[in-house]
Amino acid sequence: MSIYWYQNQFLPKEEIRVSPDDRGYFFGDGIYEMFRIYGGQLYEAELHYERLQKSAAGVRIPLPYSVDELHMRLNELVERNSLTEGTLYIQITRGIAPRNHLFPKEGSPVVMAHCNPMKRPVTQMETGVRAVTAEDIRWRHCDYKTLNLLANVLAKQEAVDRGADDAILHRDGLVTECSASNVMIVLSGRLITHPADKRILHGVTRAVVLRLAAASEIPVEERPFTLSELRDADEVFQTGTTIEVMPIVNVDGHPIGDGSPGPVTRRLQRDFESTLPS
Ligand code: PDD
Repeated sequence: MSIYWYQNQFLPKEEIRVSPDDRGYFFGDGIYEMFRIYGGQLYEAELHYERLQKSAAGVRIPLPYSVDELHMRLNELVERNSLTEGTLYIQITRGIAPRNHLFPKEGSPVVMAHCNPMKRPVTQMETGVRAVTAEDIRWRHCDYKTLNLLANVLAKQEAVDRGADDAILHRDGLVTECSASNVMIVLSGRLITHPADKRILHGVTRAVVLRLAAASEIPVEERPFTLSELRDADEVFQTGTTIEVMPIVNVDGHPIGDGSPGPVTRRLQRDFESTLPS
């Protein structure tokens, strides 16, 4: 039985009653975080809370709990679900009110969290995945992790419809990120990724990987790169909470390098693995 945390109560999923007037439905008016659970612990929890606070402030949703309270509740959720390996999703919407674009005058944010078992995608990490490029049609605050994911959903579906696994997004010919992950390339021994500005989500996995690259003295450039640099790259990989360091071995039908995961990607996969609690 799956236990959810909804409006400060731990309840079986079946007992949760969600209001049709929740602004999450009307407007996608909310924020979220996706944590990874390794060894029963929330991985890099502090970075996720920092980003949650930034998203909340960015869209002016007051967080109804302190980080300490949240951390206690989320850990309790993991325990109640007896999870050692999986994901934890939390979303906070602006609240429940009749449909009106203005913020509601009364009521408070609606908080829901749940977790799911998930194994590390070890097979895909060995073989790599295929991507296609697609225009980034999102708004100009991709650094907030908001519920409004229509452009991301459309990009992912387009990628799969075109026979790939994911979409690499670009704005004006410059690569930003993927539909639900960040993207990095290796070109002439340098690791290149879009800077952490408003055009991308500041991924927790991205931050960990950049830290690991620095520790291994891999030269890093945080700068936008072009579609032709992407196609000419020696290696391409994506980073994200659920996919860790995932090689991209084919872009728009063209193999990257020799079409298999490259040495820098492999190294970072191993280094990433060494950060995980058992
Ligand atoms: N997505 N970019 C986008 C657009 C994302 O949605 C995500 C995460 C990332 C990677 O961030 P992190 O390393 O913190 O997971 C980058 C989550 C997993 C999701 O929406 O399911």
